[in-house]
This record gives sequence, C-alpha cells and structure tokens, in this order.
Amino acid sequence: MALDLTGMKRKAAERAVTFIHSGQVVGLGEGSTANLAIRHLAELLRLGRLTDIVCIPTSLQVERLAQELAIPLTSFEDHQIIDITIDGADEVDHEMNLIKGGGGALLREKIVAQATRREIIVVDETKCSAALGTNWAAPVEVMPFGWQSQRNFLKSLGADVTLRLLGNGQPFETDQGNVILDSNFGPISNPVELSERLSRRAGIVEHGLFLNLATDVIEAGAIGIRHIKHEESVNDSH
Ligand code: A5P
Repeated sequence: MALDLTGMKRKAAERAVTFIHSGQVVGLGEGSTANLAIRHLAELLRLGRLTDIVCIPTSLQVERLAQELAIPLTSFEDHQIIDITIDGADEVDHEMNLIKGGGGALLREKIVAQATRREIIVVDETKCSAALGTNWAAPVEVMPFGWQSQRNFLKSLGADVTLRLLGNGQPFETDQGNVILDSNFGPISNPVELSERLSRRAGIVEHGLFLNLATDVIEAGAIGIRHIKHEESVNDSH
C-alpha cells in the first residue's frame, strides 16, 4: 500500500499545534509540513479557539502565507524570545539532530530556533535515519563573493557539492541574497565536529546541521504518531 505522506504530515502538524497556548509568541517554520501547521493554527485563530497569538515567520514565503491567512505577525524588534516554534526537517537522527534547509530558509530557521524555548519538529517517518547525511545533502548558505572557494573547501572535507539552481538554471537566492551549496557528505559520523569546522570558515554564513536545538520531534508514520521529547534540551541559550 502506498504511504499517505500528506496525511502523515497533517497528523504530525496538527499534533504539534495542540502545544500552542493563547498568548504565546510562535515561530512559523518552512516547508510543506510546517505549512499544514500554519494553516491549522490560522483555523484555530479564526474559530477563536486560540487568541492573542503573535508569530515570527522563518522566511519571506512563510510571511506571505501568514499574511494571506490573517495570522498576526511580530518581529524580533518586539519579541526576542519565542515560546514555541513548529518547523519541519529534511532528516532527523536518533539524537534529535537535524538537517534543515531544503527550502533554503536555514539561516532564519536557525535564528528562530535559537531564540525558541520549545522547538517542535514535525516530520513523516521517511525523514528519520541513523546518521545525518544518509538521505539528505547538508545545505550550506554562502556569500556569493568567493562561493567557489567555499565549494572547494567543502569538497576538501569530503562532500560532493552542488550549487543549488532554480528551474531556469539561475542560482537559487536565499532571503539574504546568498547562494546554497548542497553538500553531500554521506552519513556524517561526527556532526558536532563538522558543524564547528563549517562555522569557522569565512564566507559560510550558516549550515543546515541543527544540533541540540529540537526539544520535541513529532514523527507521523503509517501506524501512528511518535512524540520524542528531550526535557533537558529546552533551549535556554538566548
Ligand atoms: C526549509 O528550509 C526546511 O528546513 C524544511 O523545514 C524542510 O525542507 C521540510 O520540508 P517538508 O516538510 O516539505 O518536507
């Protein structure tokens, strides 16, 4: 039987929204699963079942969607701490570490995640693997200036590197005007070490390894929902 991926995503998204309370500041993630959560949140606001919510989107695209759905928005100018964020992921390992950035929003997603008390990741079961990099290339956002040098650097670390392109063959541009190098490392044995090496390199703006940022993963599969929670990883770094 074919997997009903959209149905699974919807279940995970709607479960995550049950953790939002009236009066909270909410981070809105990017991608098809997070979109389902945003639409469900909009519906609850419309029905008055949630009130006094303000939201911070993780991309310009999400901002437009939220505006279309009449979701009240705010910004870091007014709120530097976000109570709860619901975001998707491209790959999740057993430690709740993530690869993100399939939609190109990794920088804003990480800024929002680091400012969030409860970062809930919503995925279908196909996203889970034993080691990050098994199923997904790590996106690396780099400045256009000198991007070729970053490509060579990533290759020297063992990655197959592809400049992300649009359908028309032009480079994909992030909301910050940068480009993305999709870097396939294969299964990553030491994501912490790789993350540190990437972070030390000038020209690399951010990378899609999200380590120790998720507080909850809600994974929907053919047989139901699995909610994995790390009480101790509630983010207090802001
Ligand atoms: C966006 O940049 C990514 O981090 C997304 O969260 C990711 O691509 C998940 O998308 P889906 O929910 O569509 O799989």
